[in-house]
Amino acid sequence: MTKRIDGKAAALDVRQQVAKGVEAFRKQTGRAPGLAVVLVGDDPASTVYVGSKGKATLEAGMESFTHRLPADTTQDELLSLVERLNDDSKVDGILVQLPLPDQIDADAVLDAIDPAKDVDGFHILNAGKLAVGQQALVPCTPYGCLHLLKHEHDDLSGKHALVIGRSNIVGKPMAQLLLGENATVTIAHSRTRDLQALAREADIVVAAVGRAEMVKGDWIKPGATVIDVGINRLPPEEGKSKGKLVGDVAYDEAAENAGAITPVPGGVGPMTIAMLLRNTLVAAHQREELEAPAI
Ligand code: GUN
Repeated sequence: MTKRIDGKAAALDVRQQVAKGVEAFRKQTGRAPGLAVVLVGDDPASTVYVGSKGKATLEAGMESFTHRLPADTTQDELLSLVERLNDDSKVDGILVQLPLPDQIDADAVLDAIDPAKDVDGFHILNAGKLAVGQQALVPCTPYGCLHLLKHEHDDLSGKHALVIGRSNIVGKPMAQLLLGENATVTIAHSRTRDLQALAREADIVVAAVGRAEMVKGDWIKPGATVIDVGINRLPPEEGKSKGKLVGDVAYDEAAENAGAITPVPGGVGPMTIAMLLRNTLVAAHQREELEAPAI
């Protein structure tokens, strides 16, 4: 029987552990950890994500600072807000929601964030530390995927993992994390030849390409673990205003072969915010030179 991996339950567990950690941190330091989230413009999906992040931050007992800036914000204006947040002692974590409008150089903004407050793990210093195997703040979505994988496998050592997608947000850090667990890692992307053959060899498939149901059921090796990072909306069926949300994997087909698989929604999605809260708690401890709880 294929196991449906319950990301909602796993995320709730992490969030409860974070809330306990926040309480202990408050007792030790007399203050709550603080997370600042910056949204530029009014992209509908980003607006929803930023709202959810603020709500979850408060639910964990942390301080939440949300900054909503107009779509025509200049790079200098955004950089000066980042400077202020870097200097604000109540702020332990800073997240600038991506994508940013065209007039802004996202790399310059991400690299202006104090690496000690970079709870997204996108700063070049944290990306570099992850790449060379040093302790770093790790991007939330791949870290959430690793958390789910470790729940399924006591040991990832020697497993053949296929990561489909090479983005800086998911694919590359995911591959680094799996290497850190001694998995044998293949990174596939739009120019990869015979992706199906690679998938059929993989004990673990992480799909992060943003193409609806691209990974077919017969690509999956019997018993493999499948982690689906995609969130894609299909065109609406007749009479409906909204299309169905699907992942990058054709779930029903893949579930016939997989040993365990994440659904969409309710798989990886909830883990991203849980790991953001975890990273903020860790950053707060490190800034106070305290030992962070292992979550
Ligand atoms: N946009 C989509 N995913 C993310 C994320 O994990 N962090 C930020 N900052 N923006 C995103």
